[in-house]
Amino acid sequence: MRYPPLSSKLYAKNRNRFVKEMKNGGLAVFNSNDIYPISSDSTLPFAQHRDIFYLSGIDQEESILLLFPDAPEPEHREILFLKKTDDLIAIWEGQKLTKENATALSGIQTVYWLESFEKQFNALANKAQLFYFNTNEHPRAKIETQTREDRFIKWAKAKFPNHPTAKSNLILQRLRSVKDLEEIGQIQKAVNISEKGFRRVLPFIKPGIWEYEIEAEFAHEFLKNRSKGFAYTPIIASGKNSNVLHYIENNTQCQAGDLILMDVGAEFGNYASDLTRTVPVSGKFNPRQRSVYEAVLRVENAAISLLKPGVLIKEYQQEVGKVMTDELTKLGLLDQKTLVNQDPDKPAYKKYFMHGTSHHLGLDTHDYGPMDAPLQAHMVLTVEPGIYIPEEGFGIRIEDNVVIQPQGPPLVLTRNIPKDPDEIETLMLGV
Ligand code: GLY
Ligand code: MN
Ligand code: MN
Repeated sequence: MRYPPLSSKLYAKNRNRFVKEMKNGGLAVFNSNDIYPISSDSTLPFAQHRDIFYLSGIDQEESILLLFPDAPEPEHREILFLKKTDDLIAIWEGQKLTKENATALSGIQTVYWLESFEKQFNALANKAQLFYFNTNEHPRAKIETQTREDRFIKWAKAKFPNHPTAKSNLILQRLRSVKDLEEIGQIQKAVNISEKGFRRVLPFIKPGIWEYEIEAEFAHEFLKNRSKGFAYTPIIASGKNSNVLHYIENNTQCQAGDLILMDVGAEFGNYASDLTRTVPVSGKFNPRQRSVYEAVLRVENAAISLLKPGVLIKEYQQEVGKVMTDELTKLGLLDQKTLVNQDPDKPAYKKYFMHGTSHHLGLDTHDYGPMDAPLQAHMVLTVEPGIYIPEEGFGIRIEDNVVIQPQGPPLVLTRNIPKDPDEIETLMLGV
């Protein structure tokens, strides 16, 4: 493990919060992700499933967590199953977690080797009233592959057809949306690494630099700081590429006079940061670019000030839409005639700002969080308005990460990352 882990107390607390929501006699199961094959014997790097990580801190493949709060034997109320390090694994991959390591990380006292899973699970299933299965119910998820979790669920349903089932995922979506202070600390560390990356690239950006060279600078800074790398595929989009919301080719040479939009965030200890800054390739905004930039910044500041407990995301989005509409009108992009005729379900501002203003942030970049429930203190959100004008050859987005406070304005985790246009010009031109 490259990063210092959070405390086992946090994971114990997370499990306690989860089991409090379970019905009597429930047995919940959480699996690691697969190591995804490419072809031949190549694989993608392992990325732990965020739910088993949230409940245990275990960051290793082929791990399984069982939670059975009503188990007759107290030692079976929480069980971890881990892959055992045999001689071959020891030679090729090195030592995996020992049982003692796993207990220290997770606070779980009962750790068995994976080879005994089926036997143990069969015995426990016979004492359980129902199973809690964890299917991915994130509203944006598009899944075409069968995960390790899916295979387990299929196997368990075939083997125990009379057990009713319940859903873990909705519980986890709710729990994970409100962050513990330790988690906020970890997101802050990820943000701080993103800041280092951004400060590194600012003086590096010049006409003639290629987008992938900027990506390499970020990667260098992230890895040097114990991050595993990008929290999501980085978007480094100069000139007209900045109008493509998910541009990830990063293969264009930056031109003098263009802007470059960089949506690049580091991960740290499996927590994401999600940062966007848009800067001039030559170090100086032209007057039109600066007007649009300042408009986005005003919308962003207005949006941040709206975020407090009790706010509904839908109403917040409408408020931000009104501020954006005013700014687009002042920029000459919307006129009164268009506004009078606009369809309230498809407001005119969406022509230039077609995505949402905020999403939850945490173990996933687009983290769990109910989009229809009022905001609560210690939710972590992005704020990321943008104005995209293909006919003028540029788009601008500014994205920060904030924590909802019990009272007053949110805490801006990204507050030290320059976004004032004068400051950006000074940092880029070194004057
Ligand atoms: N980087 C992805 C997003 O901003 O939502
Ligand atoms: Mn982003
Ligand atoms: Mn985002």
